[in-house]
Amino acid sequence: MKIAVFVSGRGSNLQAILESQKQFDKFEVSAVVSDKFDCAAFEIAKNFSIPTFTVGNKERCISFNDLSNLFFEYQIELIVLAGFLKLLPNEFVNQFNNKIINIHPALLPSFGGKGMYGLNVHKAVFESSAKVSGASVHFVDPTYDTGKIIAQRCVDISDVKSPEEIAERVLKIEHQILPYVIDKFADGKIKIIDNRVVVID
Ligand code: GRF
Repeated sequence: MKIAVFVSGRGSNLQAILESQKQFDKFEVSAVVSDKFDCAAFEIAKNFSIPTFTVGNKERCISFNDLSNLFFEYQIELIVLAGFLKLLPNEFVNQFNNKIINIHPALLPSFGGKGMYGLNVHKAVFESSAKVSGASVHFVDPTYDTGKIIAQRCVDISDVKSPEEIAERVLKIEHQILPYVIDKFADGKIKIIDNRVVVID
């Protein structure tokens, strides 16, 4: 199964996906897309000889429209948002209905929505005094973090001293849960039954 990964920054989730690609041997990252021209994640893609694209309306960018045509031509079956900060246009989301997933560094439906990314999420979790946090992988719909949840894993944060400590614990889980969901998707083991997402063992 060919997948495209969308990134905006560091790319540690992209790295985890690429490392698990060998282990699972069921999917292949065929394109890495960013809203930026330069980001650390692009360096990771280049190390793995994966083509990179910058999406947007500026010069030297590829439009979402051209990107979707390219994905149909490449036969991309899954789009993975791994730290991609831009909201996808409705039309693009509708073209890839139930074929776009996102990783969110908290237990949705709490601590999601516009502006809830990166350390902002972990600060909100820390300030709430929540005792657990975690990572959620969900299908993408046209608004931030509201699509149906595919998988979640949680971590005890009752003893943390800072939002950064929460981020560190959650990131470890992100690196496990995202490759796990991609592998299940490649195996056809993610189903929507009675309007609920079910992951078959
Ligand atoms: C991750 O915490 C992801 O959940 C969030 O942005 C961060 C991206 O990290 N949405 P990286 O670029 O994968 O290292």
